[in-house]
Amino acid sequence: MFAGKYILSPMVRVGGLPFRLTCLDYGADLVYAEEVIAQRLLKCTKIFNETLGTVDFLDEDGGVCFRTTSKESDKVIFQMGVSDPDVAAQAAQMIEHYVAGIDVNMGCPKDYSIKGNMGAALLTQPQLIKKILCKLISVCSKPVTCKIRILESEEETLSLCKEIESTGVAALAVHGRTRYTRSSHPCNYDIIQKIKSVVSIPVILNGASLDINNRSDMTAVMKKTGVDSIMIARAAWYNPSVFRDPEPVSVREAVQKFMKYCIDYECPLHILKYTIGKFRGAFKDNQSSLEVTRHIETRLIYDYFGLGDYYSEVASKRTGDIQEEFQKKKR
Ligand code: FNR
Repeated sequence: MFAGKYILSPMVRVGGLPFRLTCLDYGADLVYAEEVIAQRLLKCTKIFNETLGTVDFLDEDGGVCFRTTSKESDKVIFQMGVSDPDVAAQAAQMIEHYVAGIDVNMGCPKDYSIKGNMGAALLTQPQLIKKILCKLISVCSKPVTCKIRILESEEETLSLCKEIESTGVAALAVHGRTRYTRSSHPCNYDIIQKIKSVVSIPVILNGASLDINNRSDMTAVMKKTGVDSIMIARAAWYNPSVFRDPEPVSVREAVQKFMKYCIDYECPLHILKYTIGKFRGAFKDNQSSLEVTRHIETRLIYDYFGLGDYYSEVASKRTGDIQEEFQKKKR
């Protein structure tokens, strides 16, 4: 499942359902969803959303914490942020039927993760890592993976990877930067190549976006390092059709596909704006980028990308559905 794969890396806010489906349409083999903190998932209510054809995990305030659909169920990996093995197990049991695998984020350097003893805070606690992964593997019917960053020394990094391998994880994704390395600095390919030579589970290389403009660039990085698969974040954010063989489509075309999914799956406007804000070349110039993202009226944003009519059509149908439901309830 994790060999020879071109994979979308998890991205908070960006990696929701519309973005994942866009990447899959363009040739991504697997898509990691944005990190969800396990404790948050445990407080969610699961509903089957008949209007959208999705399974939704809703926060207490009714907001969507995680939304998925059968279109992606054999391709989507649910990533959790967690520091407690039992909490990890409970979260995995809640979600596993709707996803293809479960991943633990062991690379996030952000304050909230470190303070919660999650993400990159785990990297220096191999015993805790092992407890979390072993527990997950023992309860979960789907493959379990983890995503790490490298440590300061090669020795520590290789030793950590061997410990992780010993838990029985299905694959190991490695971001070739330490928790202190800026994302504008080069990815350390040498250490990932060494990791590949000391473990026998599939190794997924991550962190190469600065060197990637198309699918053959991804293939070249895989060949150069000998890894099993590659996982990309920013290069996909700049243009999600980067997965397409042999060449990406124009960013405008990719934006349109993404926005159609945003309409289909009711992506919140602030997420849509945040996501398209980084698509490279989506706007005619900086001025129009500002003009469009400043809009507060949804229809105007869709109009700019030629999807105003599609938006109105879907919105009026939904209003119809809601009206019908309302009338039924009144009867
Ligand atoms: C990330 N990254 C990230 N990593 C992770 O494990 N879980 C997450 O939820 C997120 N969220 C996230 C959001 C955004 C906006 C960015 C840009 C990045 C890190 C990401 O998955 C990846 O490890 C790094 O970006 C390095 O890979 P690239 O960008 O060089 O392909």
